This record gives sequence, C-alpha cells and structure tokens, in this order.
Amino acid sequence: MKQVIDFVKANLEKEKQPAHALGFGKYFTDHMFMMDYNEEQGWHEPRILPYQPLTMEPSSMVFHYGQAIFEGLKAYRTPEGKIQLFRPDKNIERLNFSCQRMSIPTLDEALVLDAITQLVTIEKDWVPSEEGTSLYIRPFIIATEPYLGVRPSKRYKFMIILSPVGSYYGGDQLKPVKIHVEENYVRAVKGGVGHVKTSGNYAASLKAQEEAEAQGYDQVLWLDAKENKYVEEVGSMNIFFKINGEVVTPELNGSILGGITRSSCLQLLDYWNFPVSERRISIEEVFEAYYRGELEEAFGAGTAAVISPVGELSWNNQKITLPPSETETIAKRLYDAITNIQLGKEPDPFQWTV
Ligand code: COI
Repeated sequence: MKQVIDFVKANLEKEKQPAHALGFGKYFTDHMFMMDYNEEQGWHEPRILPYQPLTMEPSSMVFHYGQAIFEGLKAYRTPEGKIQLFRPDKNIERLNFSCQRMSIPTLDEALVLDAITQLVTIEKDWVPSEEGTSLYIRPFIIATEPYLGVRPSKRYKFMIILSPVGSYYGGDQLKPVKIHVEENYVRAVKGGVGHVKTSGNYAASLKAQEEAEAQGYDQVLWLDAKENKYVEEVGSMNIFFKINGEVVTPELNGSILGGITRSSCLQLLDYWNFPVSERRISIEEVFEAYYRGELEEAFGAGTAAVISPVGELSWNNQKITLPPSETETIAKRLYDAITNIQLGKEPDPFQWTV
C-alpha cells in the first residue's frame, strides 16, 4: 500500500539566488524530506518539513564510525517549463546497494521515488532554467543511535535536501581540467567500499586533492591500490579515454563506483555504434598512446559535472597536454546528448527522464 507522506509547510520562503551566483551546493530550498528507522517500526514517518538544522546526540554513531551513505541526482526544467528527473530509479537502486554494503536497512524504492517527486514538486519554483543549471537532489542516510560500541546502528535518518546549482567547477562546464595521477594515496581497494557511495570515500580523497591543488592541478586520477598501475577514477567521477578511435573506460571491478552518467555514456556510445570497451587500462598504456599520437581525448563523467574534459595529465615526471580538438569531440557530443535529454530539448530514446 502506498505510504502517505506528511507535509508541514515552511512559514517563510528564502530568497532565490540569480543563476550566475549559484555555484554548486551552496544554497538549499525551503523544504526537506525526512524519515526515521528503528527496530520496532522499521522505516517510518515519511514527512516533508521546513529545511532546518538537526538536533542530534553527540554520541550518534555516524559521528564516530561514519555509517553514512548518499546519492546525487538532478531535476531539470524543460523549455516548456515542465520539471523532469534523470534516471532516478538508478540512483534509488544504488542507494539500496550502498545500504547493503554499509549494513543499513534498505528502503522501499517506490517510496523514495515518491518522496523525491513530491519534494521536487513542492519546490518546483527552485528549479532554475538558465543554461547549465539544475536542482541537485541529495538523498542521504546517517546512523543516529547514541552508542559507542562498534556494530551497525539500530537507528537511522533518511533525508533528502535540494540545492539549485550551476556548474560544478564554476564557469564553462566543458573547460578542460588539469589532472595529477596520484601515486601516494589510493581511493579504494577491492573488498572495500569504493563501489558504493559512502561518505568516508570522499573524506579519504581530500588529502590527495588538497596536495594536487597545491601543485596547480584541479583533481587527481586514482590508480588501483594493489599495483598502483591501473586507472580507476578521476576525482569523484568515472574516467573515459578515446584512443585511436575507440572509447575505453575501466571496467567495474569492485573498487570503482558504477556512475549513472558513466552508464548513460556507454548506452549512448552503443546507440551510436561507436567502438567502446570496458576493460582494465594502465596509466602506462594511456601515456604510450599519447606518445604514439593515439590518445585523442580523456574526460570524466559524473552527475555533478556531467562531462569534464581532461586538458593535462601529469604522471611519473611527465606532463602531457591534450590539444583542443579541431573537430567535435566525443566528450562534447556526449555532453550535448546527455544534457539535451536531461533538459527535454531532444527526444529521449532511452526513457531516462521521468
Ligand atoms: C558526481 O558527480 O557524481 C559526484 O559524485 C560528485 C558529488 C560528490 C558532488
């Protein structure tokens, strides 16, 4: 039976920022979704209420052992003014996948979709319409039981907050970024949690990012933890290369996050009959391809930035620069195809939007 989501309306409406001031994840809408879990009632009391601070015990388990997961997806305004979501089913599926790995009780997927849809509908005036903007949706779960023993929490909060956003890096979405290949730190190991969206993965990545930024890079390229050899991810995105006419992306091997933009790129490339392979690729192979003149493109793919071309790669005292392409790049083609579907500017042959 469909669960009723209670609604308490905010008394005041916050001021909305102009598109150019949005940036990423700085402003939050008037309402949020919340639902609690305990052993007696399971997940209960789904409700939409005014966006507000939380009151939590300092002993809440999330503060100590990091039992927390999250998702990220976006709502878009079409030229007709309709609001649509991009592949929310995939994010909700992954939310439960993350729950399972992090010993968090899973959620009813239909209820989560209903919660997202109702919250976005209430906040429809917050969905910006300018080029490159959207309403970022952040569902997340935290362990709230006040307890310091190490075991799964018996209480949780599932929340959804919304943030009107512009481009992730600021400025032109397709501006090439400078990437440092990370050899000291690793992001994830097989058997670990790199394949799920748990908060600690992002905390653990900060040091490498900080050091790369201090050296003038935008982000790091992560290599596998065992051999420090195979390419895994770039920053918080999946990585793609175009080598001698073929698109190559690392296969999902248990330590790489299965991105929804990654899967959309693969589906589009397949639809275009573009040669593509998901396989292990070493950083050496990438540099060798460059020296042979065969590395045509490199780009990251993720929800926040969509597609982010790589302009420079540094590894092992070698710095390579990918020249801007004379012709249309596959990164641009994918960016246009995905964003045009997201924004309802082009037909959606895959029924990705709802
Ligand atoms: C994404 O772009 O998919 C991300 O995960 C980035 C987000 C953590 C801001």
